[in-house]
Amino acid sequence: KSCVLAYSGGLDTSVILGWLQDQGYEVHAVYVDLGQPCEDREATLQKARDCGAKSSRIVDVREEMCRDFAFPVLGWQAKYEGIYLLGTSIARPLISKVCIDVAHEVGATAYAHGATGKGNDQCRFQLAADAIDPSIKMIAPWRIKEFREAFPGRTELIAYCNEKNIPVKASAAKPYSSDENVLHISYEAGKLEELDVNGVEIVDFGMGVSPQEAPDKAELVTIGFESGVPTKLNGKNVSALEMVEGLNEIAGRNGVGRIDMVENRFVGMKSRGVYESPGMTVLYDAHMYIEQLSMDRDLMHLRDRMAPEVAEMVYYGFWYTPKMDALMAFMRESQKPVTGEVTLKLYKGNIIVDSRSSPNSLYDEDIATMEGGGTYDQDDAEGFLRIQGLPSRVQAAVTPRKF
Ligand code: ARG
Ligand code: SIN
Repeated sequence: KSCVLAYSGGLDTSVILGWLQDQGYEVHAVYVDLGQPCEDREATLQKARDCGAKSSRIVDVREEMCRDFAFPVLGWQAKYEGIYLLGTSIARPLISKVCIDVAHEVGATAYAHGATGKGNDQCRFQLAADAIDPSIKMIAPWRIKEFREAFPGRTELIAYCNEKNIPVKASAAKPYSSDENVLHISYEAGKLEELDVNGVEIVDFGMGVSPQEAPDKAELVTIGFESGVPTKLNGKNVSALEMVEGLNEIAGRNGVGRIDMVENRFVGMKSRGVYESPGMTVLYDAHMYIEQLSMDRDLMHLRDRMAPEVAEMVYYGFWYTPKMDALMAFMRESQKPVTGEVTLKLYKGNIIVDSRSSPNSLYDEDIATMEGGGTYDQDDAEGFLRIQGLPSRVQAAVTPRKF
């Protein structure tokens, strides 16, 4: 029997690597490189070998994640429950795609991951895997009673590692759980479960400084878009990955992009999360400013009504679905005119627009001007409002509003 494991190098997936072998599986460990800012790739590979993996590999999909996953979600301006930029959610379907590719290559019939039975990640991994190859058996050890009974807590996980000579980091456990990639780092659980704890004060952030620590001087950054896709950073053409990495650097040092929220998980519970996504936070604002110039009003309002739906689908894990394909086709059409350049001022966690321009700008100074003259004839508004107000006048005559 042979199984692919989405391997992070952490305590849970290392124990799972051993446990799967106890169950009679040959295990192929896959570390999907998503640009995790703080993880040591070589050490992770070595650890997989030490844990007895039949094979272990790093698959670099950093560019693909930014270009084909994060930027389309950005094109939608999709944020879950108003503020979460979906950094973890976006990466999960791609991890499944990579693992299933490897399964086909090595002839594995199963795919295992370390997500718990209480969270969103299990949904995303599995819904994506089901859509790509339903013949691959999903193994989620945390949903298996015997596994949970064998490992009720960290102590047992560490004891197992010692028994099997699996190296465990001596460093004290972090007081929360985190997930990272080039888009963001998330922090949840542990100390953060107490809502009276100030999240952004206890987290040891990995991508930038706090607004208080940021320089006292504002920094300008210029971003160029082509049909909704960010392509130019401070005058230079860059790849999707370079754009996100470059902006993480710039926004990170200016204290941009930290949030603390209570969110609704797909499995129904509310959960508290702290996130840092410096670069993507700047991109969402930059993109919005170009849309303000170049996008048709009614199209924008329709898009804005649908964006929460897209965010929900990404968050729940319905990435590889016909509905998502159709929504992405809508996004690409709607983004055709979203071309232009915006300069933002980053200052102690704030993003302030400095200037913006678009060759497709629909903003017409001659129409909008409050000065005399111009091409807009105010007489026209008489008829416009006479007709808009017709139902109200009839209603008022029939049932006068009482105050
Ligand atoms: N709550 C966030 C989400 O559902 C982050 C999940 C983090 N996952 C993790 N394994 N630590 O997208
Ligand atoms: C987990 O439960 O494995 C992490 C959190 C989540 O998936 O929501």
